[in-house]
Amino acid sequence: MKVVEQIKKPIGYEMDLFEQKFLLSMSSKVALLNRITHYIVNRKGKQMRPMFVFLVAKMVANGEVSERTYRGASVIELIHTATLVHDDVVDDSNRRRGFFSVNALLKNKIAVLIGDFLLSKGLLLSIDNNDFDLLKIISIAVREMSEGELLQIEKARKLDITEDIYYEIIRQKTATLIAACCSLGAASVKPESLHVESMRKFGELIGMAFQIKDDLFDYGDEQIGKPTGIDIKEQKMTLPLIHVLNQASKKDKKWLINSVKNHNKDTKRVKEVIAFVKDNGGLDYAVNKMKSFQEEALQILKTYPDSDYKNSLELMVNYVIDRKK
Ligand code: IPE
Ligand code: IPE
Ligand code: MG
Ligand code: MG
Repeated sequence: MKVVEQIKKPIGYEMDLFEQKFLLSMSSKVALLNRITHYIVNRKGKQMRPMFVFLVAKMVANGEVSERTYRGASVIELIHTATLVHDDVVDDSNRRRGFFSVNALLKNKIAVLIGDFLLSKGLLLSIDNNDFDLLKIISIAVREMSEGELLQIEKARKLDITEDIYYEIIRQKTATLIAACCSLGAASVKPESLHVESMRKFGELIGMAFQIKDDLFDYGDEQIGKPTGIDIKEQKMTLPLIHVLNQASKKDKKWLINSVKNHNKDTKRVKEVIAFVKDNGGLDYAVNKMKSFQEEALQILKTYPDSDYKNSLELMVNYVIDRKK
């Protein structure tokens, strides 16, 4: 059995029902919007975030979920989808989930509005059902994601990113939403329990590993359904490059920075930078950091009693770093 099937086994029923509810949560009276949201839903992603929501809820409540859990999962996936649509505008990326990104297909104008629509649909789903505790968790994540993306842009302009700032960026732009999945999963069934905070931390740690993995993909040339090798083009310096810069001689450092600053659209030069990073242990360093976040996340899980849900969460943590896309 494939690992994803194994992970989903204890939440198969919930994920099937979630899919129907998620589709309904996007509906609009505007025909153009419906066409586009159908386009998006037909190319669904890995759905790791709703999986986290259901697995955590069931782990902390001995197999129970509630309507709040379903709504929370939909809100998170709506917001995740909205941020991807916006992120591809920000990163000027033309592919997503193996096909054209919304901006590539319908231009930036439409992508901006679609992202706003999905975000508002998500927030309203919580508001209309008085899920204000969940809405608070989600709104914090939305704020942090925008801050993270903006901090990243600021650092791309100045090219003065340090390893600590890198962690702060990925904590905000990515880990915070996965943290929200896990704390919301707990809060949906056990509001105000200690699980809410411990699962938030658990999710944050996995989220860190998740984004380091994503940044490593950018250095590879495997088919992952979105472009690779575009981070340097966008002057995004991620952990492998940051580490190599910290270790490099003055001369190499100058060449690296000059490459990112002035030759970032030159495909050949970008390839040389990537090769330099690989040859100087940048990827190995990032892999090790990713594994230490993974290890910390697993430690938190160990404090929970054994169950099928806990097993699946353990597999999820490992899947985050072993995944092929
Ligand atoms: C992509 O997230 C955005 C990042 C935070 C790196 P996913 O890799 O979960 O995207 P999908 O939903 O599976 O396409
Ligand atoms: C994560 O960063 C994006 C969001 C949190 C929205 P990336 O820009 O690296 O994500 P991908 O690689 O485009 O999916
Ligand atoms: Mg991007
Ligand atoms: Mg990326």
